[in-house]
Amino acid sequence: METQEIMMIFVADEDYGIGYQGKMAWRFRAETEFFKNTTWGYDVVMGTETWKSLTKKYQPLPGRPNHIVSRNGLQEEVPVGVQIHRSPEDVLAALEGKDFFVMGGGQIYSAFAQHATCIIMSKIHRKYETDCKFDKTILENFTEDMSHERTLCEKTEDTPLITVHYFYRNTKEVPL
Ligand SMILES: NC(=O)c1ccc[n+]([C@@H]2O[C@H](COP(=O)([O-])OP(=O)(O)OC[C@H]3O[C@@H](n4cnc5c(N)ncnc54)[C@H](OP(=O)(O)O)[C@@H]3O)[C@@H](O)[C@H]2O)c1
Repeated sequence: METQEIMMIFVADEDYGIGYQGKMAWRFRAETEFFKNTTWGYDVVMGTETWKSLTKKYQPLPGRPNHIVSRNGLQEEVPVGVQIHRSPEDVLAALEGKDFFVMGGGQIYSAFAQHATCIIMSKIHRKYETDCKFDKTILENFTEDMSHERTLCEKTEDTPLITVHYFYRNTKEVPL
């Protein structure tokens, strides 16, 4: 039986900051393209706040079935085809056996942490003002595959260094 991949993908600064005032605290073309190319064709799952952070042009994100997780069922209208779920468990039931991406934000990464099989982190080697963080303790249950690490964007005068890191769920039992 093939295992289902539940992949969390995010971009963070040096302090695991991921957002500021409901938006991303930065924009880098290389990172946006990496996100698009990596998630293209897959179902993507996001929380209400991340959905709201998308400009109308990108609601829904094209080329990917969009899913929103909302306890109150998101009261505003969404475009046809966008699915709304009341809990992570509802998402898991709807996407049973299908590989999919969890694309934020902070609350939703935490809500899916116990289910994720893989985490793809783009790290911006710079500090920004942020008010939303990825809970780095989630990574304690994952091991980085260093052989996959790569540079997404070299440091220049205008842009910071951005590297990509892949983490896989620990399979070894912790000794009692
Ligand atoms: N750097 C990155 O890679 C990245 C990626 C995505 C987002 N972001 C940033 O992250 C920020 C948003 O993150 P956030 O943590 O504030 O919000 P979020 O995770 O996007 O959404 C939070 C909402 O999701 C719903 N929710 C949360 N836990 C749930 C659960 N267990 N069951 C059902 N629904 C649940 C609730 O919606 P209801 O209130 O509707 O019930 C909650 O208000 C923004 O700044 C955004 O730009 C950054």
